[in-house]
Amino acid sequence: MRPVALSSLLLGMRELLERTLGSRVRVNLDLDARVANVLGDQTQIELAILNLAINARDAMPEGGELAIGTGSYRAAGTAELPSGDYIELTVSDTGSGMPPEIISRAFDPFFTTKGVGKGTGLGLSQVYAMARQAGGLARIQSAPGRGTAISILLPCTDDQVEVADEDVAAATAHVNAATILIIDDDHDVRRFLADSLNSFGYAVLQAEDGPRGLEALREFSPQLAIVDYAMPGMTGAEVARAIRDKDPDFPIIFASGYAETSALESFAENSVLLRKPFRLQELQDAVRQALTPTMTA
Ligand SMILES: Nc1ncnc2c1ncn2[C@@H]1O[C@H](COP(=O)(O)OP(=O)(O)OP(=O)(O)O)[C@@H](O)[C@H]1O
Ligand SMILES: [Mg+2]
Repeated sequence: MRPVALSSLLLGMRELLERTLGSRVRVNLDLDARVANVLGDQTQIELAILNLAINARDAMPEGGELAIGTGSYRAAGTAELPSGDYIELTVSDTGSGMPPEIISRAFDPFFTTKGVGKGTGLGLSQVYAMARQAGGLARIQSAPGRGTAISILLPCTDDQVEVADEDVAAATAHVNAATILIIDDDHDVRRFLADSLNSFGYAVLQAEDGPRGLEALREFSPQLAIVDYAMPGMTGAEVARAIRDKDPDFPIIFASGYAETSALESFAENSVLLRKPFRLQELQDAVRQALTPTMTA
């Protein structure tokens, strides 16, 4: 995590946001000038804001207003959010809003109300992962017909100094040394898994199909593979069989939709099923379980 100058980042995004949202949406920036630097990853913060803006646009087909505001926030300290000074970044819209049952699932990976091919359901889960990775939090306030406000809390820092990449890498390597291989044909899913696993402290290798995955396995000796079940060419089951031929105890997590679950039962031994859509917590639990041999038996 590095210090990020949030106000200049937001000001720098204004044109991009206006272009993305089109002429029917007015963009308002309401930035607290006293807002200090925050800790985070500049690119991920930008992506999160863009994701939120696109969600807002989709919720306002007739046009409306998108407001981005910042302010300071002092946390007393809870299990989720350590006490300290944060910046609250809020992106709000005057769109359709969400009922409680959608709010409660909106951060879940792959949860989408948009039609097939329109939404991957990864946007908000990436926003949430980014905030958690930075040591903060994301939350939703919304009601049907009353618009939506999504706020991200990011830790403040007085630090202006650039931290060397090696220091960051060393710090994360210390947390979780395991390397995880992701085999999935969907680029967005791979990137999402990679971001989340990185945020948990794991190193990640990505392969877009079975043969390349098996090659990476030989070359880099990861400790765990997360394998998509439905892939063109080699299926997840075939990939797993090839892995297990070489190493019968190699830990595997299958990521699958409900429909494929029964076909996977035969692999249940030594492997963990992760059903889409899943929560970040479920991903983290599955990884821990798969990496702990006694628990998978
Ligand atoms: N600003 C908003 N107003 C109303 N509903 C929203 C808003 N933002 C998110 N949602 C709801 O939450 C769901 C999940 O949002 P998310 O961004 O994670 O996925 P998505 O937009 O469907 O797909 P994508 O991965 O392409 O962003 C949306 O499908 C929508 O139902
Ligand atoms: Mg989205």
